[in-house]
Amino acid sequence: MHYIVRPMTQEDVPQVTAIDREAFPTMWPPMNYQRELENHLAHYIVVAEVLDKPEELQTKFEVNTGLAHKVVEWLTPHKVGQEHLEKIVGFAGFWMMAGEAHIISLAVKKDFRRRGFGKLLLIELVRAAVKIEAEIVTLEVRVSNYEAQRLYLQYGFVGKGVRRAYYTDNREDALIMTLDDADSKECVAKFEQSRNNLKFGL
Ligand SMILES: CC(C)(COP(=O)(O)OP(=O)(O)OC[C@H]1O[C@@H](n2cnc3c(N)ncnc32)[C@H](O)[C@@H]1OP(=O)(O)O)[C@@H](O)C(=O)NCCC(=O)NCCS
Repeated sequence: MHYIVRPMTQEDVPQVTAIDREAFPTMWPPMNYQRELENHLAHYIVVAEVLDKPEELQTKFEVNTGLAHKVVEWLTPHKVGQEHLEKIVGFAGFWMMAGEAHIISLAVKKDFRRRGFGKLLLIELVRAAVKIEAEIVTLEVRVSNYEAQRLYLQYGFVGKGVRRAYYTDNREDALIMTLDDADSKECVAKFEQSRNNLKFGL
């Protein structure tokens, strides 16, 4: 088993939407990722767990459930392909506008949290943004969402202000956080280093 990071595709939309609903249950209407992928400003990535052999999936699943091989394909969220089997564990995306990458979404499946996938997604997102010449990376986060704020602070984002009653579900304020000079030599080196320190066998 190993993990990969790759661009999101239309095939991923059902799994991504399920993670989105789990992560942002009160956001209404739900984000339409099918449409997002058609938006030329948008860039989305996923991190997926890849089982290298069908037997690996079968063993893993039978250990958990005792169910026979026949129902594995039906029940498993892994995508059953010719060569390998993938399950999306998280995703993230940004919109690129005039040198500014605006992070729209970042979420990790609940069972996979606290294992470094949030960091991996953020690092890969920033690297992808800089590759297409972002100078600044910015985002909004709920003022109550300390977990996500801690993640962003760890990677050099700083609070830049508040958007009052930004979230329509409960009129909660959003904290605006920004990574300035994302394309500077120091910042690029720091993200490169952080990526190398994560151990996902990428
Ligand atoms: C925020 C989120 C993406 C983090 O994903 P994750 O895979 O658990 O993150 P990681 O394991 O890579 O942890 C990254 C850092 O986030 C912070 N963090 C994550 N979960 C935390 C928690 N429960 N308590 C405190 N800090 C937490 C820590 O700083 C952590 O670094 P550390 O492990 O070195 O202390 C995940 O909690 C999530 O999907 N939340 C719901 C969606 C959401 O709020 N997205 C952000 C929208 S702006």
